[in-house]
Amino acid sequence: MARSATPTENRKPVTVPSVRAHKARDGKDPLVMVTAYDAPGARVVDEAGVDMILVGDSVAMVVLGYDDTLQVTVEDIAHHTAAVARTKPKALIVGDLPWMSYHVSTADTVQNAATLIRAGAQCVKLEGGRKRVGMVEALVDAEIPVMGHLGLTPQSVHAMGGFRVQARESEAALQLVADAKALQHAGCFAIVLEGVPDEVAHMVTAALDVPTIGIGAGRDCDGQVLVYHDLLGLEDRMAPKFVRRYADLRGDSVAAVAAFAQDVRSGAFPSDDESYHLTCEQSEALALYGSKA
Ligand code: KIV
Repeated sequence: MARSATPTENRKPVTVPSVRAHKARDGKDPLVMVTAYDAPGARVVDEAGVDMILVGDSVAMVVLGYDDTLQVTVEDIAHHTAAVARTKPKALIVGDLPWMSYHVSTADTVQNAATLIRAGAQCVKLEGGRKRVGMVEALVDAEIPVMGHLGLTPQSVHAMGGFRVQARESEAALQLVADAKALQHAGCFAIVLEGVPDEVAHMVTAALDVPTIGIGAGRDCDGQVLVYHDLLGLEDRMAPKFVRRYADLRGDSVAAVAAFAQDVRSGAFPSDDESYHLTCEQSEALALYGSKA
């Protein structure tokens, strides 16, 4: 699997079968997934050596300014997926099926997933457990690999009564394990576990042969995922405890733009070196022309 020490051009492309077979209990390094929604972001995360790029519906909140993920459509995710795919990353591109794209008929679900695949995704992700089994089977039947997503599923924000940690009680934890097994049985090649106690994530991870990718699910998953804008400190309005910020790009960006504004206002920008100049001959010819005009 790709590691950050390996220059991008020497890396082998990450594939669905290689992810499916990747269990930490076999002594493998944890998988790394990071979101990206555009070409510059995709180049950054791919050059950093991540295994998977998730074109997440989190784009709604961290890029488009909505309060939840329910506002984005298949066309929105396809638009962002295409931008990521144009960079031809070595990382596997996961297209997130948005709300109401797989809560419809099986035929429409497959068509919606196909739209993301045609935009450049190599697999899709959907939220929910046993009730999604039929859709997962139909997608797998159509040769579309599926990543599951359990626990705190943001598309269920209203049903959950907010963005709340899930499976805190033993009965709910057992239901989560059953959901994970059902998704694996239906053909999911990996499962995101979001916002669940680490003991529960441990149980699910031990119960599955496919990898779990955690976010707010402790260290016992087979991999970890974070949202690009969270890990780079571009989004600092919300600070869930599972986010570790590795940079302060928002602070750095505000300081950089403020410095630019100050230089413009003081006349320090642009300098002579940052301007284009005529050749001496053209400059003289222009002066001559100007004096006659
Ligand atoms: O959309 C997203 O970014 C996600 C991750 C939080 C897993 O689904």
